[in-house]
Amino acid sequence: MIRCDHTGAWAALHGHYAAQGRDFDLREAFAIDPARFAALSFEAPEVFADLSKNLVDATTLRLLLQLAAECGLPERRDAMLRGELVNATEGRAVLHTALRAPRGAAPFSDEVHAVLDAMLAYAEQVRGDAQFTDIVNIGIGGSDLGPQMVVPALDACGTPGRRLHFVSNVDGHDIAPLLARLDARKTLFIVASKTFTTQETMANAQAARDWFFAQGGTDVARHFSATTTNVKAAAAFGITTTFGFWDWVGGRYSLWSAIGLPIAIAIGEANFRDFLTGAHAMDRHFAETPLAKNLPVLLGLLDIWYRNFHGFTSRSVAPYHQGLKRLPAYLQQLEMESNGKRVDIDGRALPFATSPVVWGEPGTNGQHAYFQMLHQGTDVIPVEFIAVKTPAHKLVDQHRKLLANCLAQSQALMRGKTADQAAAETAPTAAAGLAPTVLAQHRSFPGNRPSTTLVLEALTPRSLGALIALYEHRVYTSGALWGINSFDQWGVELGKALCDQLLPRLSSGDTTGLDASTAGLLARLSA
Ligand code: F6P
Repeated sequence: MIRCDHTGAWAALHGHYAAQGRDFDLREAFAIDPARFAALSFEAPEVFADLSKNLVDATTLRLLLQLAAECGLPERRDAMLRGELVNATEGRAVLHTALRAPRGAAPFSDEVHAVLDAMLAYAEQVRGDAQFTDIVNIGIGGSDLGPQMVVPALDACGTPGRRLHFVSNVDGHDIAPLLARLDARKTLFIVASKTFTTQETMANAQAARDWFFAQGGTDVARHFSATTTNVKAAAAFGITTTFGFWDWVGGRYSLWSAIGLPIAIAIGEANFRDFLTGAHAMDRHFAETPLAKNLPVLLGLLDIWYRNFHGFTSRSVAPYHQGLKRLPAYLQQLEMESNGKRVDIDGRALPFATSPVVWGEPGTNGQHAYFQMLHQGTDVIPVEFIAVKTPAHKLVDQHRKLLANCLAQSQALMRGKTADQAAAETAPTAAAGLAPTVLAQHRSFPGNRPSTTLVLEALTPRSLGALIALYEHRVYTSGALWGINSFDQWGVELGKALCDQLLPRLSSGDTTGLDASTAGLLARLSA
């Protein structure tokens, strides 16, 4: 395994950046090359990608692809897909791809399909049970964000009259108002936790069970089910309907496993299988397509170009589909928990930056909030637009407006507007008192700001499965080249341990041995 900065391509990329890359201008690139869009747009299963509005030329791409080859990306990808222990710090394989492979096509196929069949049969049973009007998923992180993102995205496949709820926060303001609206006789709770030890989830599960009893409920076995690798702990909680999974499924990669139960209840077995099929198609694309046309690889390489050469610190995701409103939150865990690392697999401190900040809101809402900064702020922030051609509603005019906004934003980011162009326009009357040249500066845009546009024909189980898998493999690509372990998350442990120590102090008020700030705050909060 060769780390990116130990390759010839890395040095060549630095030279290329200093010589040309830094000054690359998108507007000029389009002007001199009418074939730029054709050359830099790519087809992957269910996803079309326009990469042409990115700050790359043929040399950049050639060197980035050389970097991937020198780092042994194909070999490392294949090792992951074969089930080797690529999560070295936890001694585990990484096989979320096996969860969506057809029978017999990947490691652990028998176990995977046995649980999948049982989970989907149970989902159908719940869907057919008119008594359950409300399904509450209790989980956090990877046991929440995937289903919470997918269920509204596939709302068009849902069943009217059945409501899915998601409770994650240990803050009682999350579960308490929900419970106040529910009827215990009509509610099914799913306790979702890979470990079945997570503080937030256990506290919420306990609160739900207490409420259930207080409402006169008795049949915990019928009203509670669990999705976990810790079947024993679920049984100790009183749950008899449990769907398991395995340590080789990372939390943030687990929505394809039993953790997807709320999705299956919402959209049904056939749609859930389609969701897996879409992801599997993207897995095959990642595994089989030459690097130069391999979309997750190209996106991962662009991420490296922007993070390590241009020094951009974040990427904004703008899904132009309201159903994808939780996609940015989902991607935050996927990317930042995976690649927010500062040492390589051998424990050496990294001399370069890793995960960018990933953030965003659905378009067009973001346009009326932070797009000002994207267009005129001092930071350059690559934007990823996601456009969906066919809506699930009949408001044709609104859909055209949505798509026009999406196209306009990437165009505006690229084109910009010079001060002369701004000055030639009629100045708004409110600006009286400011010299026209000053006002023109305020009204000009630097442009040359990069973006990617991903296009789906429609938001379906299959296309959403493919889109999520695309993001997973893209994150793997950058993580592999950086030489980090994208599959552990030790960074969340220290806070958890300190929380355990502080918890009893909140009751006792004991501040002995604490730093002055924590002691002062604890005293204020516990008094
Ligand atoms: O925040 C750390 C983490 O371990 C995530 O990686 C995980 O998705 C989440 O907590 C929930 O864990 P569990 O599914 O075990 O409750």
